Amino acid sequence: MKISIISSLFAISPVFAQLALPQPPYLPPNATAGTVPTNSTNRPNTQWSNLIGNLLYFYEAQRSGKLPPTNRVPWRNSSAVDDGRDVKLDLSGGYYDAGDYIKCTYPLTFTITSLCWGAIDNGLGYDMSNQTAYLDDMLRWGLDWLMRAHPENSTLYVQVGDANIDNNYWGGDNDIPQPRPSFQINDTSPGTDAAASASAAFSACAAMYANRGFNGKYAQQTASLRNSTYASTLLTHAHALYTFAVKASGGMKTYQSSVPQVGDAYASSSYGDDLVLAALFLSWAENSSDFYREANSYYQQFKLSGYEGVLNWDSKTPALPVLFAQIAQSPNGPGSNLSQWQNEAEDYFDGLIDSKGGASYTKHGLLYFGDDSRDNSLNPALNAAMIMNRYASMATTDDKRVKYQTFVRSQIDYVLGKNPMSVPYIVGVNPNSPQNPHSAPASGGDDVGNINGDPIVTAHVLYGAVIGGPDKFDNFYDIRSDWPETEVALDYNAPMLTLTAMSILNQTTDPFYVSLQDGAYAAVKPQGLPCDSAFPSACTHPLPKKAQIAMAVVITVVGLAIIGAGFYYFLLTRSQKAQ
Ligand SMILES: *[C@@H]1O[C@H](CO)[C@@H](O)[C@H](O)[C@H]1NC(C)=O
Ligand SMILES: *[C@@H]1O[C@H](CO)[C@@H](O)[C@H](O)[C@H]1NC(C)=O
Ligand SMILES: *[C@@H]1O[C@H](CO)[C@@H](O)[C@H](O)[C@H]1NC(C)=O
Ligand SMILES: *[C@@H]1O[C@H](CO)[C@@H](O)[C@H](O)[C@H]1NC(C)=O
Ligand SMILES: *[C@@H]1O[C@H](CO)[C@@H](O)[C@H](O)[C@H]1NC(C)=O
Ligand SMILES: *[C@@H]1O[C@H](CO)[C@@H](O)[C@H](O)[C@H]1NC(C)=O
Ligand SMILES: *[C@@H]1O[C@H](CO)[C@@H](O)[C@H](O)[C@H]1NC(C)=O
Ligand SMILES: *[C@@H]1O[C@H](CO)[C@@H](O)[C@H](O)[C@H]1NC(C)=O
Ligand SMILES: *[C@@H]1O[C@H](CO)[C@@H](O)[C@H](O)[C@H]1NC(C)=O
Ligand SMILES: *[C@@H]1O[C@H](CO)[C@@H](O)[C@H](O)[C@H]1NC(C)=O
Repeated sequence: MKISIISSLFAISPVFAQLALPQPPYLPPNATAGTVPTNSTNRPNTQWSNLIGNLLYFYEAQRSGKLPPTNRVPWRNSSAVDDGRDVKLDLSGGYYDAGDYIKCTYPLTFTITSLCWGAIDNGLGYDMSNQTAYLDDMLRWGLDWLMRAHPENSTLYVQVGDANIDNNYWGGDNDIPQPRPSFQINDTSPGTDAAASASAAFSACAAMYANRGFNGKYAQQTASLRNSTYASTLLTHAHALYTFAVKASGGMKTYQSSVPQVGDAYASSSYGDDLVLAALFLSWAENSSDFYREANSYYQQFKLSGYEGVLNWDSKTPALPVLFAQIAQSPNGPGSNLSQWQNEAEDYFDGLIDSKGGASYTKHGLLYFGDDSRDNSLNPALNAAMIMNRYASMATTDDKRVKYQTFVRSQIDYVLGKNPMSVPYIVGVNPNSPQNPHSAPASGGDDVGNINGDPIVTAHVLYGAVIGGPDKFDNFYDIRSDWPETEVALDYNAPMLTLTAMSILNQTTDPFYVSLQDGAYAAVKPQGLPCDSAFPSACTHPLPKKAQIAMAVVITVVGLAIIGAGFYYFLLTRSQKAQ
């Protein structure tokens, strides 16, 4: 059957990378390689260099659509090639969001923004490890899809696939269940957050592809990824999406109020932060002091000052003062009021280090933000470390700079194995890495009722995947069905990539896990429940069917025993009374 594709308003560039991919390709070494100390004279450090390669490789394993001949992940197949047919568009491609098969625009755009911003600051780290071509390839796989998902100025596809259908499927990429509906926001049913967040992704990457580094007093390096044609195409989308966010005739609102179906997976709590981020990156990409002023006025209007919460795909506020400051300190840049933004940023960072607001720490030092950390403890900590590292060189005193850098290193070390479980929370980098990530394609299983047992041994190593992380007691048990601890996701890898690019520039010593030999992870899995019973609120996800049956049996047996005991006691007291 032939499907006519509505021609897009935008010229869509063919899907190929600007930079030629390395020949032979970079392939992740086996986990044992992560125990071999690097010769200290190597520049860059081999282990950090492999780590950045693996972190990027994870995104290749998450690809949706027709895979190119350069695909490096041997166990992945082309999939969901008909996405968008329901709306007569080609919405194939892009990335699966996490351990399943839906495509979610809102967290994707945060991921892309985060990566491009990181490459503006630490791009040289990609260059030094020969990973820049893979960065380009990764970004274009996302951005080219995002352009297809933005076929008209005021239309953005915010999700492909139905979370409810997807949650009941656990299997390979050849049998992904249909239908896969395409959900859009538009002029009458807008989504200020989703449109603004997509705008930010486009303009952050436009700045990166235009080689617009923050080349002022505190400048770092930019990846050698220049392509002004691509940059200006991205900027066109950024503009249109910003206008859509601000001027939609349906007003300003969260995207799930227009498309309730997206609320199952990624409901957004607000849109003020997205507007500021979008205006700021436009201001930077175009050297526009008007957009900078507009960003400031949204920042005031939405009262974002003094925020003490998490930084993640939903909540971008903590990153804003850092970007304001970065733009303000740049000579010939469009910004101003540097010291005001330094104060804002330092209030946040100092409060976070002093456990103010929502911040606390696990006993062994992982930054923890209550409910925001419960389903993915590493992500808030890594995001905080990422922006604190970015800010450190702009700190008003040397003491603060050192304090921030020390904090950053402590979070990175924790994630890379300096924790009581002795687990580096990245798949495939060391023998103690998690073996059972919550990823349907990697698991090789196809029984949604038996995620843990079918198969027992995970079929494919999902190299480079950052997982959810330990619970708030620093416990981690590597159980596939325990998605808060073992799931993978696009946004989990992003801050680790930027922090690794930074480490490549500055670290001569190996990542912490290199000192961990096989067997250092000796945790005994708790009996019975698939999640940590010391923290049952992390177990809100449904138990696998077999565990439910087992639980029901236990409850029934225990219940019968209690009833039986009660009856026995009743008889006993009766007979005693009768005596
Ligand atoms: C720049 O990007 C465009 C759009 O993807 C592409 O067509 C072109 O080949 C790239 N230019 C170079 C020099 O690689
Ligand atoms: C794993 O990598 C190490 C170090 O590179 C190598 O010595 C070893 O032979 C490899 N093992 C397997 C099973 O491929
Ligand atoms: C490290 O590399 C240097 C330079 O290649 C070499 O001279 C030295 O022997 C190496 N050290 C070790 C321990 O392999
Ligand atoms: C990067 O590529 C160059 C040229 O092929 C090579 O000499 C160098 O060892 C590579 N570096 C890394 C870290 O892979
Ligand atoms: C890819 O296809 C092959 C051959 O049909 C299959 O064995 C494999 O499991 C598929 N991969 C995934 C992730 O489903
Ligand atoms: C606009 O988006 C809403 C929500 O997704 C949808 O119900 C409606 O059909 C869309 N309007 C048009 C003209 O496509
Ligand atoms: C779409 O947006 C672009 C960029 O903001 C603008 O130049 C163009 O005129 C708009 N097109 C339509 C049809 O509104
Ligand atoms: C700079 O700060 C002053 C005082 O807070 C404010 O009035 C002004 O609008 C700010 N300028 C910009 C461009 O944000
Ligand atoms: C940015 O714009 C300012 C004026 O607002 C100008 O002075 C400066 O030279 C411009 N910088 C660049 C890099 O174009
Ligand atoms: C990281 O390394 C770069 C270049 O080698 C240097 O300019 C910068 O000061 C270092 N940054 C930190 C935080 O040590």
